[in-house]
Amino acid sequence: MTGGAGTAAGAGMTAAARRIAVLGAGPGGLYFAALAKQLAPHREITVFERDAREDEFGFGVVFSDETLDGIAQADPAVFAAISTEFARWSDIDIRYAGQVRTSGGHGFAALDRNRLRAILQQRCAELAVDVRYRTPAPPVEQLSAEYDLVVAADGIHSATRAAHPDTFRTELDARDCRYIWLATDRVFEAFTFIVEEFDFGVLQVHAYPYSPTRSTFIVEIAEDAWRRAGFEAFAARELAHGESDEESVNRCADLLAGHLDGHRLIPNASRWIRFTTVRNASWRHRNVVLLGDAAHSAHFSIGSGTKLALEDALALAAALSEQPTLDGALAAYEAERRPVVESTQRAAQASLEWFETVGRRTGQGIDQFAFNLLTRSRRVTYGNLRARDPAFVDAVDAAVGGSPGVPPMFRPLKLAALELRNRVVVPPLATFTSPDAQPSAFDRAQLTAHALGGAGLVLAGMTAVSPEGRATDRCPGLWSDRQEAAWTELRDAVRAVSDTPVGLQLTHAGRRAATTVPGPDGIGRPLAEGWPLLAASPLPWDADSPTPHEANEVQLAAVTADFAASAERAARAGFDVLELQFGHGHLLSSFLSPLTNHRTDHYGGPLAHRLRLPLEVLAAVRAVWPAGRPLLVRISAADWAPGGTTEAEAVAICRALADAGADALDVSTGEVVSHQRPPYGRGYQTPFAELIRAATGLPTVAVGAISGPDDADSVLLAGRADLVAIGRAHLHDPLWTLHAAADQGYTGPGARWPEPWRAGSRKPPGPGADRVAPRLHLLREPAPPVHRRWLPVRAEE
Ligand SMILES: Cc1cc2nc3c(=O)[nH]c(=O)nc-3n(C[C@H](O)[C@H](O)[C@H](O)COP(=O)(O)OP(=O)(O)OC[C@H]3O[C@@H](n4cnc5c(N)ncnc54)[C@H](O)[C@@H]3O)c2cc1C
Ligand SMILES: Cc1cc2nc3c(=O)[nH]c(=O)nc-3n(C[C@H](O)[C@H](O)[C@H](O)COP(=O)(O)O)c2cc1C
Repeated sequence: MTGGAGTAAGAGMTAAARRIAVLGAGPGGLYFAALAKQLAPHREITVFERDAREDEFGFGVVFSDETLDGIAQADPAVFAAISTEFARWSDIDIRYAGQVRTSGGHGFAALDRNRLRAILQQRCAELAVDVRYRTPAPPVEQLSAEYDLVVAADGIHSATRAAHPDTFRTELDARDCRYIWLATDRVFEAFTFIVEEFDFGVLQVHAYPYSPTRSTFIVEIAEDAWRRAGFEAFAARELAHGESDEESVNRCADLLAGHLDGHRLIPNASRWIRFTTVRNASWRHRNVVLLGDAAHSAHFSIGSGTKLALEDALALAAALSEQPTLDGALAAYEAERRPVVESTQRAAQASLEWFETVGRRTGQGIDQFAFNLLTRSRRVTYGNLRARDPAFVDAVDAAVGGSPGVPPMFRPLKLAALELRNRVVVPPLATFTSPDAQPSAFDRAQLTAHALGGAGLVLAGMTAVSPEGRATDRCPGLWSDRQEAAWTELRDAVRAVSDTPVGLQLTHAGRRAATTVPGPDGIGRPLAEGWPLLAASPLPWDADSPTPHEANEVQLAAVTADFAASAERAARAGFDVLELQFGHGHLLSSFLSPLTNHRTDHYGGPLAHRLRLPLEVLAAVRAVWPAGRPLLVRISAADWAPGGTTEAEAVAICRALADAGADALDVSTGEVVSHQRPPYGRGYQTPFAELIRAATGLPTVAVGAISGPDDADSVLLAGRADLVAIGRAHLHDPLWTLHAAADQGYTGPGARWPEPWRAGSRKPPGPGADRVAPRLHLLREPAPPVHRRWLPVRAEE
């Protein structure tokens, strides 16, 4: 190999980084050393590697097209060398329940990890990087004193992090599943996921080809199934350095023989491990900087460890040339890489949780299961998959009874006796415009706008069942004749312009009552002149909040009666749907969560007792609410705080609510305690809707940061929920649903434009929409085939 961009030694090269020590000759360390030397050949770069040059660990590494573009630009010599070795394909095969489904158009390239290292080793040798094999790195303090810059590319178990724990503040999240990294001489033709059910539980395999003769084959299994399968006993045996757990390998080969076609499993220091997500609060300490797995890890199911390490190397080498000072370069490197890494880690987290809980979906048919698997990280969506391989998405659509050309969000749903024309819900969105507790002109305007905006169901915001149940002093109620008359008038006014079903959410805000209108953080502060609060236990919301009264049985009976009376009023007012607020720390929620219910009577303690009041309220409401009209219950399925409601409890709560007559569950999370730490992010609450739907069989509403129509379609087609609630996006654009239809080219009955607005039902052309691109190529390149498989001509054939 020769050349590269060696002459590009930037004039602005960071003078302070002349002597660089690199810990670890993995892909990250070697690639960084090569690039940094290439950019500034006068640098002295020493790489310390404890293993021998010829030591070979690992199997294949896999890249997406995007990473390859970066490598191609940065070092064409390395790119040319690795390109010749790539196994390339575009398909993903999903093998499940004795069947296979294939999704095309993805674009993968993989090669032997040891060939990648060999190519990078050779590149370093050409560039005169001093790589010292069989040389454990000297202590980092010593290196830090002797060198201008120390790059810690010493892998997932990095000892460097331990040298400065207060700066790096490493967080290690060891997960529940066990996995074992293997190869096979069965050459798969595509990325292959195998999900196989056994009497001990589910076994899954992530396999992909990486050469004409080998595939990577990672076997993964949940901890309890791993024990039941007998792997624990094998793993208990002491293994020497580099030795493999042969008994486990043999058992995997037996169990998965049907997928190996007579081929072997090939171990290399292979043993059961737990995947650990590594996060560091900072990646740098003075002149020491973390790179690759030392800085961060991301679950192998999205195949990104080596990719991230190489991208880090590229960014760090570039920053050293672009920034005038070392400090500035390290800061720029971290600033550039951290958001990319965190985004990848979020996707990897969703993906690893999907595999940890794969048993939730094993009741699905193969088509929906395959779609669910492919969309697990939320990065791949309905729209992406449709663009890549329309036939695959059509087949999934057909398998779940969808009609061609109708996006999942525009399919009808029957809830109780109510027909919804599509799957979009406007969730309760309080307007805080009712100082007199009467529904306001703004409530009327908002509900009208949303009813005209195309959603299948619109819910009015939280409405109190009693004066002391108002969350703020600007919330409406429904406890008086006057309020009932006003709600009736409002409901009639909306119906006069739209037949969209409209529902109402009833609540008693409990210890969260008597606050100001929420500020930008979404939380109200205690009113200066509030009113006495009622809760399961006398625990204030936070240090600034008043202590609520522990509700006595007389008060609880009154609460139940209030809910029933308001429900009757809501029915008379003409609401089509009723939602009971049993989440978000309101009164009923305070009974359900162990964090807020410390009672010792039969309304507290075990879950069956904590459920007593919510079930009494639900029964009382069900008795008066008309049978054909849907009754929804909103819950907080997680508290996001230690000791809070567990997943098993959330399921048990929902089963009890289903038995007591709820028609659907609106699955939210959090807001139960003020010290919560939710992992906010796109669709972060959706897994709970999926959990509860699978466990109860009841329709669920998924809600929370479902960011766009594509996410909504993905959630629905994957069977994670039956309805999607889109909140803030409907405040941004009350016609969100109709616009989603226009964007997807859908004009059917699931998205009915108000007749007077029909002329606007097509998206107006934007600037440049009338521009027609001229021909740019003499001969057009044919579109790449949707399905490309790895079909090497093997030497022996
Ligand atoms: C043994 C092994 C096998 C793997 N197999 C695969 C695979 O088949 N497919 C895949 O996609 N990914 C695999 N991975 C994961 C993937 O390679 C990593 O995500 C990626 O290599 C990250 O690169 P890195 O350079 O940050 O760290 P690593 O590749 O882990 O490199 C770190 C290097 O630092 C060295 N080191 C650590 N401490 C010291 C010290 N004190 N002194 C000197 N040297 C030190 C280690 O020996 C190692 O060579 C494997 C990782 C390992 C460690
Ligand atoms: C202004 C506003 C008012 C809200 N009012 C209520 C409410 O009255 N009752 C309720 O249960 N949730 C309420 N929520 C929460 C929403 O119903 C929804 O769960 C949340 O906004 C997450 O969905 P999104 O990410 O699509 O906005 C409110 C949210 C906002 C932004």
